[in-house]
Amino acid sequence: MVSNYFFRLKVAPAVTSCAARFCSSGSEDQSSYQCANWKHILAGLLAGTGAVLVYSQHRHKAERADVSVTITEKGSLLPVFSQDEVTKHRSLEDGVWVTYKGGVYDITEFVAMHPGGNKILLAAGGALEPFWALYAVHDQEHVLEILSEYKVGELCEEDLKKQQASKPSDPFSSDPERHPVLQVNTLKPFNAEPPPEILSDSYITPSAFFFKRNHLPVPQLDQASYRLQVEGLPQGVLSLSLEDLKTKFPKHTVTVTLQCAGNRRGDMNKVKPVKGLNWGVAAIGNAKWSGARLRDVLLAAGFEPGVAQWARHVQFEGLDKDVTGTSYGASIPLNKAIGEEGDVLLAYEMNGEDIPRDHGYPVRVVVPGVVGARNVKWLGKIVVSAEESSSHWQQQDYKGFAPGTDWNQVDFESAPAIQELPVQSAITVPADGAVIHHSDETLTVAGYAWSGGGREVIRVDVSLDGGKTWQVAQLRSGDKGQAPEPSPPPGRAWAWKLWEITAPLPPEAEELEIICKAVDSSYNVQPDTVPPIWNLRGLLSNAWHRVTVRLRRD
Ligand code: MTE
Repeated sequence: MVSNYFFRLKVAPAVTSCAARFCSSGSEDQSSYQCANWKHILAGLLAGTGAVLVYSQHRHKAERADVSVTITEKGSLLPVFSQDEVTKHRSLEDGVWVTYKGGVYDITEFVAMHPGGNKILLAAGGALEPFWALYAVHDQEHVLEILSEYKVGELCEEDLKKQQASKPSDPFSSDPERHPVLQVNTLKPFNAEPPPEILSDSYITPSAFFFKRNHLPVPQLDQASYRLQVEGLPQGVLSLSLEDLKTKFPKHTVTVTLQCAGNRRGDMNKVKPVKGLNWGVAAIGNAKWSGARLRDVLLAAGFEPGVAQWARHVQFEGLDKDVTGTSYGASIPLNKAIGEEGDVLLAYEMNGEDIPRDHGYPVRVVVPGVVGARNVKWLGKIVVSAEESSSHWQQQDYKGFAPGTDWNQVDFESAPAIQELPVQSAITVPADGAVIHHSDETLTVAGYAWSGGGREVIRVDVSLDGGKTWQVAQLRSGDKGQAPEPSPPPGRAWAWKLWEITAPLPPEAEELEIICKAVDSSYNVQPDTVPPIWNLRGLLSNAWHRVTVRLRRD
């Protein structure tokens, strides 16, 4: 069993690693294939995405390896090193060594091949545990299996005891409490969505049930000492307190739907596996956000028409940080940020209360019509710039690719960052696989529909027979029995519509395939199937949503 044993090369592991062999031997195709794969593994290894990428790459590696391995029991026949000896190996010149649970690993060649992965150098000479405490996703068998290939020795008992005595504190220990109804995707960092039927129960999603998408631990911020820096404008840096934001700028309230780019990734996964959290249909929510307009703040900070001659983007930096001290970041186009009709908010309230910690307390940017990833939480800095944010999440993630693009070919640099999202809809009731009784005679189907860029949903079509016939659903912009929200001006429909249809049950049917599809004000429609929009990260998943229910007679 892999979990009790370590693979080890017969050749001296301190000077030769599998990774080195892969890149220098075998056919041209094969070696470049392996090098490309390893680049992605390394980039993700300390950046939180590694584990999802590693497994399949490793399987290929094992399959293609022409190295012979022996299986030895953990700890046997390996030299013992002191922590001092390990600490001497902190650079490519001296070798890059790390420790993990008492093992010593030489990962020099792994790092040397891909200098872009310089984050891993931060762990050099020390323990991996504090890093993996932050990226708990790595503590998995397949990641450990890969690490084991680099094992060169054991840490001496005495130093191991010292390490264990100074156990790293859990960076997630101060995360807030969450409602137990949420379906958890990952606990650390916390990523969760509500049960779908909750979404269509209420036009405004209660904050406790709003999906939570965190890349890092939730920072502990104090409103008294909170400062927001605005940079990049000719007047220099403007520093604002929360009080300034609340008192020096008019308060605006906008109802905005936020959707994660990975919403409905689960549907893509069913067609062909993708890398990323396996979201269902509920990584979306609709809330009332209140705060100062970003436009007003930029004008107060010195924005004038001349700035638009050179500036193209507005960057946002969060106060949540990874082990290297790097913050979450993203950017949006300048005209969205400064436009009178962009409605971008520096929000300090969600649904009439202070923004909950999970959603960005005390201030987050809310960018209506734009993918969730650009709605930076725990906002610490705004930079007006000629460039997009250089953040990993702007440059190396949240981009779309063709169905045929795989991890060997993918070029994140050449693809534009996702901003406005495409038209979307999903069925929240009934659940897939539900059993309906014929005695009910009618069936009520409900769901949500939304489109990015302020395009209003003008119609939702529903089929109960797999797409042969269609009926138009009733749309609403408010809760049942209550006044709907006022109609938005054209191009500024930032909130979703809930929809519902009640139809007679077909008397003979034993199973129904229910489908929904939305149409937006530009007459954009959802694609009918997943394969033509499938992409390796499982983003922008907006094919017709389908659920199947069974009909019972008894
Ligand atoms: N902002 C910061 N600072 N850190 C984050 O991890 N996640 C982004 C965005 N803003 C994130 C962030 C992503 S990917 C999404 S989808 C939304 O926040 C989710 O917002 P929510 O958790 O309030 O639903």
